[in-house]
Amino acid sequence: MTATKSELYRDLAKQLAGLLAGETDLIANAANMAALIYHGLPDLNWTGFYFRKGAELVLGPFQGKPACVRIAIGKGVCGTAASRAMTVLVADVYDFPGHIACDPDSRSELVVPLTEGGRVLGLLDLDSPDLARFDEVDREGCERLVALFLEHHPIKGLRRL
Ligand code: SME
Repeated sequence: MTATKSELYRDLAKQLAGLLAGETDLIANAANMAALIYHGLPDLNWTGFYFRKGAELVLGPFQGKPACVRIAIGKGVCGTAASRAMTVLVADVYDFPGHIACDPDSRSELVVPLTEGGRVLGLLDLDSPDLARFDEVDREGCERLVALFLEHHPIKGLRRL
């Protein structure tokens, strides 16, 4: 029987908890989380992190093609999610004003900010070559994965980046 999308996210959350357990290195854990999601979810062409450094987002561990290294807060889908401190789900990136096309194959995008106490520390970005690839189940599932990551890496760890 094919697993439902919710079941897939429950399974990913379990696997992520297992990967994070006992390891405190933030870059290593972010790299494994990006790989887990990229290979665990269908129809993605990029998955990775950006971390906030001042007024910019700087590329972190990811899977997929090389990507833009620096994104100003407020610019593109990532910068918009960072400035709003809210998840942004884009069904068609070409309809999103200011979208930054790192990979022209990307057609839809889901960006979940890493927030703690209202502060944006970075974000998780998922891209798909399919239109409208992401829905509310993906939003909730990815927000849960980011919450697990943040429980494991409280703000002090992210400040050290
Ligand atoms: N498309 C993003 C840029 C990051 S890449 O997709 C990896 C944006 O518009 O912010």
